[in-house]
Amino acid sequence: MTALIETRAVSRHFISSSGPFGAGKLLMAVADVSIALAAGETLGIAGETGCGKSTLARIMMGLIPPSSGQVLYRGTPLNEMSKAGRSDFRKSVQMVFQDPFSSLNPRMRIGDIIGEPFVIHGIASGTALKERVSDLILQVGLQPELANRFPHEFSGGQRQRIGIARALASGPQVLIADEPVSALDLSIQAQIINLLMELKEGHGLALAFIAHDLSVVRHVSDRIAIMYLGRIVELGSRDEVFSSCRHPYTEALISAIPKVHPSAKTGRIVLAGDVPSPLEIPTGCPFRSRCRYARELCRHERPTLEEKSPGHFAACHFSNEIFS
Ligand SMILES: Nc1ncnc2c1ncn2[C@@H]1O[C@H](COP(=O)(O)OP(=O)(O)OP(=O)(O)O)[C@@H](O)[C@H]1O
Ligand code: SF4
Ligand SMILES: [Mg+2]
Repeated sequence: MTALIETRAVSRHFISSSGPFGAGKLLMAVADVSIALAAGETLGIAGETGCGKSTLARIMMGLIPPSSGQVLYRGTPLNEMSKAGRSDFRKSVQMVFQDPFSSLNPRMRIGDIIGEPFVIHGIASGTALKERVSDLILQVGLQPELANRFPHEFSGGQRQRIGIARALASGPQVLIADEPVSALDLSIQAQIINLLMELKEGHGLALAFIAHDLSVVRHVSDRIAIMYLGRIVELGSRDEVFSSCRHPYTEALISAIPKVHPSAKTGRIVLAGDVPSPLEIPTGCPFRSRCRYARELCRHERPTLEEKSPGHFAACHFSNEIFS
């Protein structure tokens, strides 16, 4: 089956403009990422801050080009698409952002914000437009009468609902949700996650769900990709990743999730130090400076992402031995 969105060996660097390591250095934000999102699936993408999640999301959306590698939509590379193909891509792949306030134009009424994609893509106008907007407002759990209000009149959770309604307006097949709940109060997070999952089911969407928090990703995902310093270090089905992870970084992330039962053994693995700067990525295995299993080989040779069992990949020289 052809993936809806696929990245092939995608990398993206930036030239640093400032910082403790000096200006003009090459910063590898995303390195050699190959990943595919199938129709109807939820792919969770998790990793610590700065590991390249948002950059990967922007590349998948076609918002920034990769420095190397390719992004394909339904098997066609974005840079080889016809005008019509590109327009279909822009309608079919939508993003939900982390900060629902800065992503909504403060000077527009929410009815116009949600209705804009209908106008841009020539989908509806006049009375039909009003009806479509009302329907979307209802679908995200708000009252259609609120269409005349401005974003500042809503709470964070309501603004995220508006952002989701806008993302749905063009009738997408893919939603890329970049930390859609991390700016929200804990009590609101579950409501928004539930809404996203309901809409995903109702509209048959594929969802890429990005989060720092592995417990949130666990809740929603069919498959999970774990990123570290721009690379995918583990990729597999949710159940396999949680029940038999194959990378020491994933092992540490899972061990840090608070246990539901107080009697459960905590066994938290404390990672040494901070994530290295993406300007100073260690030689060999990027994780070696924090890995409790690191050996000499890890210093010299970078492990590639290898299939350890069907559909379950990890980038670690000693995965088979450590997780036997
Ligand atoms: N436009 C840019 N110019 C320079 N560096 C950038 C740019 N965008 C991202 N970066 C750098 O690339 C790296 C990856 O950033 P990115 O925002 O993709 O990470 P992230 O995983 O989304 O982090 P967070 O969890 O904090 O959102 C970081 O070191 C970041 O500073
Ligand atoms: S390759 Fe070495 S340093 Fe990297 S995760 Fe595996 S054991 Fe740790
Ligand atoms: Mg981000």
